[in-house]
Amino acid sequence: MKLPDFFEADRQVIEAALDRILPRESTPPALIHRAMRYSISAGGKRVRPVLCIEAARMFTENLEGAIQTGCAIEFIHTYSLIHDDLPALDNDDLRRGKPTNHKVFGEAMAILAGDALLTLAFQALAGAPIEPARCVRVIAEMGAAAGTVDGMVGGQVADVEAGGKPVDAETLEFIHRSKTAALIRGSIAAGAIAGGGEEQDVERLRRFGGWIGWAFQVVDDLLDVEESSTALGKTAGKDRAQAKATYPALYGIERSRAIAADLESKALAEIAFYGERASRLKQVAEFLVARRS
Ligand code: FPP
Ligand code: MG
Repeated sequence: MKLPDFFEADRQVIEAALDRILPRESTPPALIHRAMRYSISAGGKRVRPVLCIEAARMFTENLEGAIQTGCAIEFIHTYSLIHDDLPALDNDDLRRGKPTNHKVFGEAMAILAGDALLTLAFQALAGAPIEPARCVRVIAEMGAAAGTVDGMVGGQVADVEAGGKPVDAETLEFIHRSKTAALIRGSIAAGAIAGGGEEQDVERLRRFGGWIGWAFQVVDDLLDVEESSTALGKTAGKDRAQAKATYPALYGIERSRAIAADLESKALAEIAFYGERASRLKQVAEFLVARRS
């Protein structure tokens, strides 16, 4: 599926900003900066920063605050991937088509690179060019999205606790909405806040983000079954091998596709109110459900 043109343009802006914010590889201690840059520049799609920027664009032409927020979100996302790939968690050797961080830099450095990216994220958020009261709200939004209460770490805990045992629909929903949807929901809400959206706008877009983030993980589950490791840039078929709690495992492929389509419709219904103004967010949402990697 072809990406919309604005997606590529946003991505270039994000790449430049990530490079500007990250410490140089030569800055001591050089090893950690190399490890951080290795995973950040490994070729992620930058979906969350694009969503953040496009949510902000609905309310402002000045996107600098949202761009820096988007970088912080990519730092948080990348830390979570580095830690998720560690032997103690998913124990994976391949990510974004390259050896995982701990395979290249060792476990100790991979743990620290994740810690450092998470810390740098909040430094970048605090220094973002956003009106101070809004900046504090963005920091709180992202702290909650990455945290333990309906947030990313909480979802990861439930995922670990499920530990290869079959789970019920309610537990699976909790895992997906927390582990993956929370960060995507936070990216969109933070973009709306940074861009100057009213409270009602932020709430509407947060709901949109929740639905589309949930759909994103259902599609991720499907791709693990349907696609090759080469297409995904990570080990395919891993969920089944590890008896993971996934939508295809619980509902089968066809029903999981229908669930993803239903979640997409729910997401699009939240932004229908904005008409043409939300056209870019709509296109990103459609891409996320139709993607093949
Ligand atoms: C792929 O995103 C990532 C997911 C589907 C999220 C999975 C959730 C975790 C790994 C949570 C881990 C949490 C902790 C605390 C360890 P993507 O397709 O956007 O990847 P890309 O950036 O490589 O394109
Ligand atoms: Mg995992």
